[in-house]
Amino acid sequence: KNHLFTFDPGFMSTASCKSSITYIDGEQGILLHRGYPIAELAEHADYLEVAYLLLFGERPDKTQYQDFIKLVRNHTLVHEQISRFFHGFRRDSHPMAVMCGVSGALAAFYHDALDINNVAHRELTAIRLLAKMPTLAAMCYKYSIGQPFMFPLNKLSYAGNFLYMMFATPCEPYEVNPVLERAMDRIFILHADHEQNASTSTVRTAASSGANPFACIAAGIASLWGPAHGGANEACIKMLEQIGSVDRIPEFIARAKDKNDPFRLMGFGHRVYKNYDPRAKVMRQTCYEVLQELNIQTPLFDVAMELERIALNDPYFIEHKLYPNVDFYSGIILKAIGIPVSMFTVIFALARTVGWIAHWKEMYNQGNIKIVRPRQLYVGHEQRVFTPIDKA
Ligand code: SDX
Repeated sequence: KNHLFTFDPGFMSTASCKSSITYIDGEQGILLHRGYPIAELAEHADYLEVAYLLLFGERPDKTQYQDFIKLVRNHTLVHEQISRFFHGFRRDSHPMAVMCGVSGALAAFYHDALDINNVAHRELTAIRLLAKMPTLAAMCYKYSIGQPFMFPLNKLSYAGNFLYMMFATPCEPYEVNPVLERAMDRIFILHADHEQNASTSTVRTAASSGANPFACIAAGIASLWGPAHGGANEACIKMLEQIGSVDRIPEFIARAKDKNDPFRLMGFGHRVYKNYDPRAKVMRQTCYEVLQELNIQTPLFDVAMELERIALNDPYFIEHKLYPNVDFYSGIILKAIGIPVSMFTVIFALARTVGWIAHWKEMYNQGNIKIVRPRQLYVGHEQRVFTPIDKA
């Protein structure tokens, strides 16, 4: 094997599992999906082609690609009772709270294929999740603004259908803007999978107990919600809005360095990347394209660009190897497309679902799944004598 894949023994001792889906070299800033560089996939493939690659290990040929699209389109609708399930939530609920609830509840609607030892059930559930996540995500948004749910329009692309379900209404025709469609599809690709991140590890842990796939995905969505993980794109926009103008950046840079200040620069840093996140490079370019296409001059983007320039030249960030990550630019693109900040992590969950499913499938394909059971370093009391309290 070439140099990319020779691990030092120390690394292998910390590896939580074996996987052939995604390879990351944090020092070099390399991200491969089944051996293909993320920049190549983002440039030349679309999300469903990347989804096929993640799920089946190889890129589809033309016939396989067309058949896969047809298969996904067969499952974009959700059970009508799910619409009523939505109506149990308050309209002002955070969309991630709704997604956590709805995704776990899918096991109550699609229980005809929940035998995890049945390959046909696993394949059907995988397609159902891939196909229905855009529909459910758009329903979260429509429900929050009091508009009627839009049924999927299967003649559209995966990303185009999502934008349609988000922004179309029964009253007017809706044309998908091809630049926004491409940007949305690229955001899906850049968030599709990322090795053993917190939410993927959560899905694998849940799967190790034999939990059904909908429960595993719900666990992954819950884990993704945190601002240190998938919630960072929402937190990053709020931070840029809080900074407000370029002249206030030094104040926030100082706070980010202050160990006594819990403030962190959202969209910066990564547990694995100690070089520029290769996804952020593509996201940055896409950001330019979208803002140019929409002719948007946004102070948010000016602040983001200046913050990046300062941070990349600041000795503290250089010493701590802190670079912009995938979430730094995605929020600006989503905001430019017209997606509310509260929906940003929902979109991350939508895109990452295929990665979570790929890892879930891989565990079953590897066979003899053993339950994940980490141990601990106990630092509590030694054994003590129990003296009952006098309750008289
Ligand atoms: C995602 O794991 C994945 O793959 C995740 C993800 C995926 O696709 O699934 O890539 C998606 O979650 C990206 C990360 C999004 N989160 C954010 O942007 C939130 C802001 N970032 C930080 O919270 C932080 O960078 C983490 C949580 C992402 C990583 O934190 P770590 O593990 O502490 O990073 P580290 O050990 O490399 O930190 C080194 C030092 C530490 O200081 P010291 O204790 O060594 O003095 O850098 C500091 C950290 O405190 N640091 C930061 C910082 N991130 C790390 N200081 C200021 N601002 C930051 N953003």
